[in-house]
Amino acid sequence: MMFPPLSRLLCLLLLSLSIPPSFSQSFIYKGFKNFASTNITLNGVAEITNDGILRLTDVRSRLIGRGFYPDPIRFKNPTTRTSLSFSTSFAFAVVPKYRKLGGHGLAFTISPTKELAGAQASQFLGLVNVTHNGNSSNHLFAVEFDTVQDLEFADIDDNHVGVNINRMKSVNSTPAGFFVDGDSTKQDICLHSGKKIQAWIDYDAAKPQLNITLSLYSKKPSRPILSLPIDLSPVFQDYMYVGFSASTGLLKSSHYIFAWSFNMTGQAKSFNLHHLPSLPPFKKNQKGFIIGFSVSILLAFFIIATAGAVYVFKQVKHTDVIEDWEHDVGPQKYSYKELKEATKGFDEKEMLGYGGSGKVYKGVLPISSTQFAVKRILKESKHGQKEFTSEISTIGRLRHRNLVQLLGWCRRKGEFFLVYDFMANGSLDNYIFNNPKAILTWQQRFKIINDVSNGLLYLHEGWEQTVLHRDIKAGNVLLDSELNGRLGDFGLAKLYDHGSHPATTNVVGTLGYLAPELTRTGKPTTSSDVFAFGALLLEVVCGRRPIEPKASPEELILVDWVMDKWHEGRLLEVVDSRLEGEFDKMEVMMVLKLGLMCSSDEPSFRPSMRQVIRYLEGEVPLPEILAPPSKKGGFVVGFDNFASSLKKVDTWSVGYREGDVDLEAGSGSLELVSGKHIGNKCLYKD
Ligand SMILES: *[C@@H]1O[C@H](CO)[C@@H](O)[C@H](O)[C@H]1NC(C)=O
Ligand SMILES: *[C@@H]1O[C@H](CO)[C@@H](O)[C@H](O)[C@H]1NC(C)=O
Ligand SMILES: *[C@@H]1O[C@H](CO)[C@@H](O)[C@H](O)[C@H]1NC(C)=O
Ligand SMILES: *[C@@H]1O[C@H](CO)[C@@H](O)[C@H](O)[C@H]1NC(C)=O
Ligand SMILES: *[C@@H]1O[C@H](CO)[C@@H](O)[C@H](O)[C@H]1NC(C)=O
Repeated sequence: MMFPPLSRLLCLLLLSLSIPPSFSQSFIYKGFKNFASTNITLNGVAEITNDGILRLTDVRSRLIGRGFYPDPIRFKNPTTRTSLSFSTSFAFAVVPKYRKLGGHGLAFTISPTKELAGAQASQFLGLVNVTHNGNSSNHLFAVEFDTVQDLEFADIDDNHVGVNINRMKSVNSTPAGFFVDGDSTKQDICLHSGKKIQAWIDYDAAKPQLNITLSLYSKKPSRPILSLPIDLSPVFQDYMYVGFSASTGLLKSSHYIFAWSFNMTGQAKSFNLHHLPSLPPFKKNQKGFIIGFSVSILLAFFIIATAGAVYVFKQVKHTDVIEDWEHDVGPQKYSYKELKEATKGFDEKEMLGYGGSGKVYKGVLPISSTQFAVKRILKESKHGQKEFTSEISTIGRLRHRNLVQLLGWCRRKGEFFLVYDFMANGSLDNYIFNNPKAILTWQQRFKIINDVSNGLLYLHEGWEQTVLHRDIKAGNVLLDSELNGRLGDFGLAKLYDHGSHPATTNVVGTLGYLAPELTRTGKPTTSSDVFAFGALLLEVVCGRRPIEPKASPEELILVDWVMDKWHEGRLLEVVDSRLEGEFDKMEVMMVLKLGLMCSSDEPSFRPSMRQVIRYLEGEVPLPEILAPPSKKGGFVVGFDNFASSLKKVDTWSVGYREGDVDLEAGSGSLELVSGKHIGNKCLYKD
């Protein structure tokens, strides 16, 4: 626009006359009780509770909730086109659904709209979406209070405060905490502790300087936890909206704002936290244990494991040199031709299922018409070689009626084949989950439990060296023609691929069977096998998976649910309804309690397999007092891409794709597209 000098001046003058009201914009919400809907714009699932607390999200999954000041605020000086200073203070709390399973965090945000169209939930906090993440046309300023470590955004930990400009990757961040005046030691704050936390964000445009200060108390500490020189002029448009955005993933938290003040002309007022409304009483259904794992720690383990796998792979790749173990191995070596003929050329129709890192086919030897199962370890599977060597050299020499016998093996051009006894009735998961082939009676289930425990005891103690199974789950319990339970796929050195793209880490694990200490030590033990065995016991009795995404939140985690019912004195309610009450109550109770005992967070509370068998055989009664839910060592599990993984499980069809190695249909195995974890640093405090 071209103006003659005078009218331009006039125009500026007029503009500056209209500025004062916007310049001096400030407001304060001491609780949200008496504010009409015109006083705050809510969107997504946000609402004002009866106590006058702004609740951004509740604990349902993949939600977005926002609350914005309804009117736009001028953020730029119209004359100089530079950003204006501001100051805001608010009190918030994050309450996770499960004490140890935090959801995602929340953000204070300054954005061009109140709607943030197209923004995604989970790690995006309802601020941006994956395509627009980082686009400078977002004009988005946010201070995130993040309870999840997203590796794709280079988050420093799972309990941090970060400054985000246009993107989810923070320009600067720091672990949540605060300083007490006169003390230079930073005190920790657990963001999802459920406690009221007060935050101050102060921006001095002249310096420029942005300060972020936190406290668990009413008084503002004089020392901020984050202070950075940053010019927000390119970020801000003339008018912007201010508010909060929060989101949940499959693991979730509710996010609350108790009070909020904002001031463009001076310091925002602080709040006396005692005068603010309190949260509704927390429903306690989180007693019990937590199953799962903390990806970040595991990641380190996986990286090492992968490096090992790559090393071994390189060593052996395409060499036809006979390895030492090949001489040493008991089982027979088959020719590829034989196997190909026996499986009709690895016909999909002959496929029995997926296991470990490959497909399993049924084979029939033409002459003897002996049936067997062949596991074809796909060459794409990077850990194939290691798995192969380890499986052959250990299990080839193990013999027990409750183990699936390895009959032979074959190698061909980097492809590996393992030949096993044929198990006429397939795997146990087909009989207990979702739409079972047939309903097993309690006697049959109890027999299978006993069989598996004997097989596992043999692995642990019955052989010259301890063999860890490492992947006990219903899918690895095979049933022969007489429905005897036999453990398969044992002795696997479970290795997990570290994705080729640094931002996507493909981690494969069987959620719900991994003992929590594995996340700390990365070292499987007989006790971690017992943990998985405990999950199996509960599954067999309850007829459901250890983590059932379709279940109601109370029932999501099987062991928690069983524990709750036990505390309520209604343990028998968890028993698979398909049994129609036809079971021996004493046996069922014993198995359930044993399952809980094996599922203890604390390895030393878990029995050994030898003890398990004594309990199962009624030789010794179960101890009266069960291990209490562990209070310390908060671990957890977090699967951020849980939901998308689950979707993959749901839509799984026949086929193999890179990265989906262990993703068996509905087995509960999950692929983590990007490694993240949730809240293992701090716990919700009752
Ligand atoms: C809330 O909205 C009502 C109606 O629009 C208005 O009269 C009142 O002043 C507003 N209160 C505050 C604190 O903004
Ligand atoms: C991403 O967000 C932008 C607005 O920021 C929107 O226009 C676009 O449709 C969104 N994309 C997706 C895939 O949701
Ligand atoms: C940023 O967003 C604008 C507006 O939606 C779009 O036109 C542009 O292509 C985007 N830029 C990038 C790099 O994605
Ligand atoms: C930021 O904190 C420092 C150190 O306490 C203080 O000197 C400065 O005035 C603060 N700046 C703002 C904008 O609050
Ligand atoms: C904003 O700051 C000015 C100057 O310090 C003060 O007079 C005013 O009360 C403040 N308003 C709010 C809502 O805090």
